[in-house]
Amino acid sequence: MRVDVVTIFPEIFGGPLDCSIIKRVRDSGLLDVRVHNLRDFTTDKHHVVDDYPFGGGAGMLMKPEPWFAAVESIREDAEPPPHTVFLTPQGAVLTQAKARELAQRPALLLLCGRYEGVDERVREALVDEEISVGDYVLTGGELPALVLIDAVARLLPGAVGNEDSVADESFSEGLIEYPQYTRPRSFRGLEVPEVLLGGHHEQIRKWRRKQALLRTRERRPELFEHVTLSEEDVELLSEDS
Ligand SMILES: C[S@@+](CC[C@H](N)C(=O)[O-])C[C@H]1O[C@@H](n2cnc3c(N)ncnc32)[C@H](O)[C@@H]1O
Repeated sequence: MRVDVVTIFPEIFGGPLDCSIIKRVRDSGLLDVRVHNLRDFTTDKHHVVDDYPFGGGAGMLMKPEPWFAAVESIREDAEPPPHTVFLTPQGAVLTQAKARELAQRPALLLLCGRYEGVDERVREALVDEEISVGDYVLTGGELPALVLIDAVARLLPGAVGNEDSVADESFSEGLIEYPQYTRPRSFRGLEVPEVLLGGHHEQIRKWRRKQALLRTRERRPELFEHVTLSEEDVELLSEDS
């Protein structure tokens, strides 16, 4: 997958993209990230990207011209044409389902706003989709773009060593994950549940399923509402009451 990013702070991307799984995925050629500085697409001596909002109000807005120049230039060079995403608190909140959908696309173009946001014509004319990372306001779209890249990159086929770990984790079936333990069996008086120590795969599977159901019901009732319960799920939940 190719991911182009447009930002006025390219330096933010270095660290997170240069370590751990994301670095490995990039090194392996599965993911090609290209970060572009919006200021390179300005035509004035001072590389200005912002201006006062028409109608007044606090703060500055990002001017349309550099955005149009940047996106048009990247699109000319990109084959296949990228799906263009503007990171904004006004977009739909990023979910695992959305990350899975984006991971199917061959190319993404991520636009990171700053200041009070961007001129509305950028969104109208250049953007396919608006995505938020949550109902809070950050200073810029760079961290949201990194969150999106991270969530998508680990879903690329071959990115994570064991495909089961992606299939089994939180949100993959509308549930959050069951509790996990590693050695030692006993630590400061805290014990690993007996069922996990016996090697009985069916009992472990059922215990994990039940824990995931209970955890989701307790912590994320709004997710639980949408889970389609199997007969076994209903049985597992009734055992508890
Ligand atoms: C200070 S914010 C501007 C917020 C804008 N005035 C509004 O109320 O929608 C500057 C930029 O940060 C990015 N941003 C801030 N919060 C975000 C979030 N929750 N998700 C995605 N992008 C965000 C957007 O690119 C936004 O244009």
